[in-house]
Amino acid sequence: MKLFIKKPIAQLMAASKEGEKTLKRTLGVGSLIALGIGAIIGAGIFVRTAAAAGEHAGPAVTISFLIAAAGCALAGLCYAEFASMIPIAGSAYTYSYATMGEFIAWIIGWDLVLEYALGAATVAIGWSQYFNTFLETFFNCHIPFALSHSPFEVSTTTTGMYASELGSHGIVNLPAIFILLMLTLLLIKGTAESAAVNNVIVIIKVAIVLMIIGLGWSFINPANHIPYLIPANAGTVTTNTGTVNYADTFNHGWLGVLRGASVVFFAFIGFDAVSTAAQEAKNPQKDMPKGILISLVFCTLLYVLFSHVLTGLVPYKEFLLQGKEASVTYAINAAMGGGYGWLAKLVTIAILAGFSSVILVMLLGQTRVFYTMSVDGLIPPIFSKLHPKFRTPYKSQWLFFVMVSIFGGFIPDSIVGDMVSIGTLFAFVLVCLGIFILRRTDPGITRPFKTPLYMIVCPLGAVICLCMMGSEGLENWLRLFIWMGIGMAVYFGYSIKHSHVRHGKPENAIDPPNPKFVE
Ligand code: ALA
Repeated sequence: MKLFIKKPIAQLMAASKEGEKTLKRTLGVGSLIALGIGAIIGAGIFVRTAAAAGEHAGPAVTISFLIAAAGCALAGLCYAEFASMIPIAGSAYTYSYATMGEFIAWIIGWDLVLEYALGAATVAIGWSQYFNTFLETFFNCHIPFALSHSPFEVSTTTTGMYASELGSHGIVNLPAIFILLMLTLLLIKGTAESAAVNNVIVIIKVAIVLMIIGLGWSFINPANHIPYLIPANAGTVTTNTGTVNYADTFNHGWLGVLRGASVVFFAFIGFDAVSTAAQEAKNPQKDMPKGILISLVFCTLLYVLFSHVLTGLVPYKEFLLQGKEASVTYAINAAMGGGYGWLAKLVTIAILAGFSSVILVMLLGQTRVFYTMSVDGLIPPIFSKLHPKFRTPYKSQWLFFVMVSIFGGFIPDSIVGDMVSIGTLFAFVLVCLGIFILRRTDPGITRPFKTPLYMIVCPLGAVICLCMMGSEGLENWLRLFIWMGIGMAVYFGYSIKHSHVRHGKPENAIDPPNPKFVE
């Protein structure tokens, strides 16, 4: 059995030419960067930063960002080489099918679905926190704790909007399911992912981050940054999901910073979205690597400055207590006083809009990957069945809505977010190793963009990502194994028998015709 059978590049290119009939090459490097930033800035910075600081890294979460950025940049270079070899719309799944063979493509594709589906769930949970803050701020009401939290959470705060619900158990996170439903409906209708709307949202998100950095800087209390790393004797804190003990290996010192990196790594996920627009890029070979790397560098700079301000505003332990939810709004209100109430309000609204766009990109990404896998015969045809009128893979979108809602509605963001991180890190490790191996085995492939110093960049990228994975703890590894185990069962039980490439069947499409990223 040829486990590593490859999809002929000519076949990919031919299908891509089909797609070109309806797609114009309109995106320049500026739009590609905007697309990257649009997908990158989301719950990672506005929700997970506080969690990483509170639980693992303290003020040194800034260093966590640098470690995560280093892993992403090195993997990003490999990603760019990968994407430039095959300048068509697709994802790591498509590229690896042509270069590394079906089995690796399957693993990466299956992993990408974990990244996108659970990524959407994580951001939806963050959306829910800010939505309740929005209701409380503007309408003086909120959805009860039980109906806006997972069954694994118990209200422990004695201040803030849930003060009167002390001891309440979560049942379901309804706002998270609500936003997922709204965006699924939008996607089924085939709303084009407009570059103009994306640009506006990017400007809003970046402006908010810059305002917090600029205005918050003078409110930094230097005492909150001392000590910079969490000491082992920092004690324990009881949060609404359990007790955090700072004496634990990955909850203090440098190992805590490393664990923090695997948490904030979530904030970088999405830069690979740039590669999915290759077909619409004016000059994919040159502009895609630029788009990926410039958006990464830009976001790293913003994240480090932002996290420096955030941890300077309030002591890191508060991010496990009163400031655990809607942490940015909390920190502004707590440290900057009533004069900046307008900023807290503005931030809340901007975050709701910004998160929606990230969820949209993720929901779109997962159905695109599954659509392509279905067209290739690796998963059942239901996932590529298009709506008769809207021409979107609506059945797939409904199925994913159910799956993502189960995670968004019934699991806490810390668990879902960690699963996304470990799954994506695993995909990055494969991409780094894949590029290294391809350089040795197929030196002749045309590579418009070449990873510089690949002998160092590829292994180093893989090692940094593996170190972050290593800090994630046994439970997260177990969850990854279970997901991959299910994937293997599907592959050997179904995909091998139905693979079009394996059985010489022609494919009939490469991408869902709708929705598209349009100018
Ligand atoms: N990077 C995206 C976010 O932080 C997934 O929401």
